[in-house]
Amino acid sequence: MRIAVFPGSFDPVTKGHEDLIYRASKMFDKVIVGVLVNSNKNSFLKAEDKKRILELALEDLPEVEVKVFDGLLVDFLRENNSKIIIRGLRSMLDLEYEMPLDYGNKVLDPQIETVYLLTKPEYSHISSSAVKELMKYNADISSYVSEKVLNALNELK
Ligand code: PNS
Repeated sequence: MRIAVFPGSFDPVTKGHEDLIYRASKMFDKVIVGVLVNSNKNSFLKAEDKKRILELALEDLPEVEVKVFDGLLVDFLRENNSKIIIRGLRSMLDLEYEMPLDYGNKVLDPQIETVYLLTKPEYSHISSSAVKELMKYNADISSYVSEKVLNALNELK
Protein backbone atom coordinates (compact mmCIF):
# COMPACT_ATOMS: atom_id res chain seq x y z
CA MET A 1 0.00 0.00 0.00
CA ARG A 2 1.44 3.36 -1.05
CA ILE A 3 0.87 5.83 1.76
CA ALA A 4 1.69 9.52 1.35
CA VAL A 5 1.69 12.25 3.97
CA PHE A 6 0.47 15.77 3.23
CA PRO A 7 1.78 17.88 6.13
CA GLY A 8 1.00 21.48 6.95
CA SER A 9 -0.24 24.12 9.34
CA PHE A 10 -3.73 24.36 7.75
CA ASP A 11 -4.54 27.57 9.59
CA PRO A 12 -7.12 27.27 8.00
CA VAL A 13 -7.33 24.75 5.14
CA THR A 14 -7.88 26.61 1.84
CA LYS A 15 -9.35 25.68 -1.54
CA GLY A 16 -5.76 25.31 -2.74
CA HIS A 17 -4.99 22.69 -0.06
CA GLU A 18 -8.24 20.84 -0.77
CA ASP A 19 -7.45 20.62 -4.47
CA LEU A 20 -3.91 19.36 -3.81
CA ILE A 21 -5.13 16.72 -1.33
CA TYR A 22 -7.80 15.58 -3.79
CA ARG A 23 -5.19 15.24 -6.57
CA ALA A 24 -2.78 13.41 -4.22
CA SER A 25 -5.57 11.01 -3.21
CA LYS A 26 -5.80 9.89 -6.86
CA MET A 27 -2.06 9.14 -6.95
CA PHE A 28 -1.69 7.10 -3.75
CA ASP A 29 -3.65 4.34 -1.98
CA LYS A 30 -3.87 6.44 1.14
CA VAL A 31 -3.10 10.08 2.01
CA ILE A 32 -2.59 11.08 5.62
CA VAL A 33 -3.04 14.79 6.19
CA GLY A 34 -0.67 15.71 9.03
CA VAL A 35 -1.63 18.81 11.00
CA LEU A 36 1.41 20.22 12.81
CA VAL A 37 0.57 21.20 16.39
CA ASN A 38 3.54 23.17 17.59
CA SER A 39 4.22 25.36 14.63
CA ASN A 40 6.41 28.39 15.41
CA LYS A 41 3.81 30.47 13.63
CA ASN A 42 1.18 32.05 15.86
CA SER A 43 -1.74 29.78 15.26
CA PHE A 44 -5.18 31.24 14.67
CA LEU A 45 -7.01 27.91 15.06
CA LYS A 46 -6.49 25.24 17.72
CA ALA A 47 -5.14 21.92 16.40
CA GLU A 48 -8.39 20.10 17.22
CA ASP A 49 -10.40 22.71 15.24
CA LYS A 50 -8.01 22.41 12.29
CA LYS A 51 -8.46 18.62 12.35
CA ARG A 52 -12.26 18.82 12.60
CA ILE A 53 -12.50 21.36 9.77
CA LEU A 54 -10.18 19.31 7.57
CA GLU A 55 -12.22 16.16 8.22
CA LEU A 56 -15.36 18.03 7.25
CA ALA A 57 -13.76 19.45 4.09
CA LEU A 58 -12.38 16.04 3.04
CA GLU A 59 -15.29 13.84 4.12
CA ASP A 60 -15.97 12.68 0.54
CA LEU A 61 -12.45 11.27 0.15
CA PRO A 62 -12.37 7.84 1.84
CA GLU A 63 -8.67 7.34 1.13
CA VAL A 64 -7.76 10.44 3.14
CA GLU A 65 -7.23 10.46 6.91
CA VAL A 66 -6.47 13.51 9.06
CA LYS A 67 -4.05 13.24 11.99
CA VAL A 68 -2.43 15.76 14.29
CA PHE A 69 1.32 15.52 14.87
CA ASP A 70 3.92 17.16 17.01
CA GLY A 71 7.68 17.03 16.46
CA LEU A 72 9.59 15.99 13.40
CA LEU A 73 7.85 15.19 10.15
CA VAL A 74 10.20 12.26 9.47
CA ASP A 75 9.07 10.65 12.75
CA PHE A 76 5.43 11.14 11.79
CA LEU A 77 6.14 9.46 8.45
CA ARG A 78 7.84 6.54 10.16
CA GLU A 79 4.90 6.09 12.57
CA ASN A 80 2.57 5.98 9.57
CA ASN A 81 4.67 3.63 7.39
CA SER A 82 5.20 6.27 4.75
CA LYS A 83 8.25 7.46 2.83
CA ILE A 84 6.46 10.05 0.72
CA ILE A 85 5.70 13.68 1.52
CA ILE A 86 3.37 15.70 -0.70
CA ARG A 87 3.70 19.48 -0.87
CA GLY A 88 2.13 22.09 -3.10
CA LEU A 89 4.02 24.81 -4.97
CA ARG A 90 2.37 28.10 -5.87
CA SER A 91 5.49 29.93 -6.99
CA MET A 92 9.28 30.06 -6.93
CA LEU A 93 9.01 31.57 -3.45
CA ASP A 94 7.39 28.35 -2.27
CA LEU A 95 10.21 26.38 -3.88
CA GLU A 96 12.78 28.52 -2.00
CA TYR A 97 10.94 27.69 1.24
CA GLU A 98 10.62 24.00 0.39
CA MET A 99 14.20 23.24 -0.62
CA PRO A 100 15.80 23.44 2.86
CA LEU A 101 12.90 21.44 4.30
CA ASP A 102 13.46 18.75 1.69
CA TYR A 103 17.22 18.64 2.30
CA GLY A 104 16.66 18.64 6.06
CA ASN A 105 14.21 15.76 5.87
CA LYS A 106 16.59 13.80 3.58
CA VAL A 107 19.45 14.22 6.05
CA LEU A 108 17.22 12.81 8.79
CA ASP A 109 15.91 9.98 6.59
CA PRO A 110 17.51 9.53 3.14
CA GLN A 111 14.72 7.20 2.01
CA ILE A 112 12.13 9.95 2.11
CA GLU A 113 11.01 11.55 -1.14
CA THR A 114 8.93 14.70 -1.45
CA VAL A 115 6.50 14.95 -4.35
CA TYR A 116 5.59 18.50 -5.39
CA LEU A 117 2.31 19.31 -7.05
CA LEU A 118 1.89 22.66 -8.79
CA THR A 119 -1.06 24.58 -7.46
CA LYS A 120 -3.73 25.26 -10.07
CA PRO A 121 -3.39 28.85 -11.39
CA GLU A 122 -6.82 29.81 -10.04
CA TYR A 123 -5.63 28.98 -6.51
CA SER A 124 -2.08 30.32 -6.73
CA HIS A 125 -2.91 33.60 -4.94
CA ILE A 126 -4.55 31.80 -2.02
CA SER A 127 -2.82 31.41 1.33
CA SER A 128 -3.96 30.74 4.88
CA SER A 129 -2.32 34.03 5.88
CA ALA A 130 -4.49 35.93 3.39
CA VAL A 131 -7.59 34.19 4.76
CA LYS A 132 -6.67 35.24 8.31
CA GLU A 133 -6.02 38.81 7.22
CA LEU A 134 -9.35 39.03 5.38
CA MET A 135 -11.22 37.49 8.30
CA LYS A 136 -9.76 40.13 10.61
CA TYR A 137 -11.58 42.77 8.57
CA ASN A 138 -14.75 40.70 8.05
CA ALA A 139 -14.06 40.54 4.31
CA ASP A 140 -15.53 37.89 2.02
CA ILE A 141 -13.35 34.74 2.00
CA SER A 142 -15.70 32.57 -0.06
CA SER A 143 -13.27 32.42 -2.99
CA TYR A 144 -10.47 31.27 -0.65
CA VAL A 145 -12.14 28.48 1.32
CA SER A 146 -14.83 25.93 0.49
CA GLU A 147 -18.39 26.35 1.71
CA LYS A 148 -17.97 23.71 4.41
CA VAL A 149 -14.87 25.45 5.74
CA LEU A 150 -16.53 28.86 5.55
CA ASN A 151 -19.48 27.64 7.61
CA ALA A 152 -17.21 25.97 10.17
CA LEU A 153 -15.10 29.14 10.51
CA ASN A 154 -18.23 31.28 10.93
CA GLU A 155 -19.43 28.96 13.70
CA LEU A 156 -16.18 29.54 15.58
CA LYS A 157 -16.67 33.33 15.60
O1 PNS B 1 1.84 24.61 6.03
P1 PNS B 1 3.29 24.88 6.37
O2 PNS B 1 3.38 25.77 7.60
O3 PNS B 1 4.05 25.43 5.21
O4 PNS B 1 3.93 23.45 6.76
C1 PNS B 1 5.26 23.36 7.20
C2 PNS B 1 5.59 21.93 7.72
C3 PNS B 1 4.56 21.49 8.73
C4 PNS B 1 5.60 20.96 6.56
C5 PNS B 1 7.03 21.98 8.33
O5 PNS B 1 7.12 23.07 9.21
C6 PNS B 1 7.39 20.71 9.09
O6 PNS B 1 7.58 19.68 8.50
N1 PNS B 1 7.44 20.80 10.43
C7 PNS B 1 7.71 19.70 11.30
C8 PNS B 1 9.05 19.84 12.00
C9 PNS B 1 10.17 19.27 11.17
O7 PNS B 1 10.16 18.12 10.78
N2 PNS B 1 11.17 20.13 10.87
C10 PNS B 1 12.37 19.73 10.20
C11 PNS B 1 12.37 20.14 8.76
S1 PNS B 1 13.96 19.92 8.12
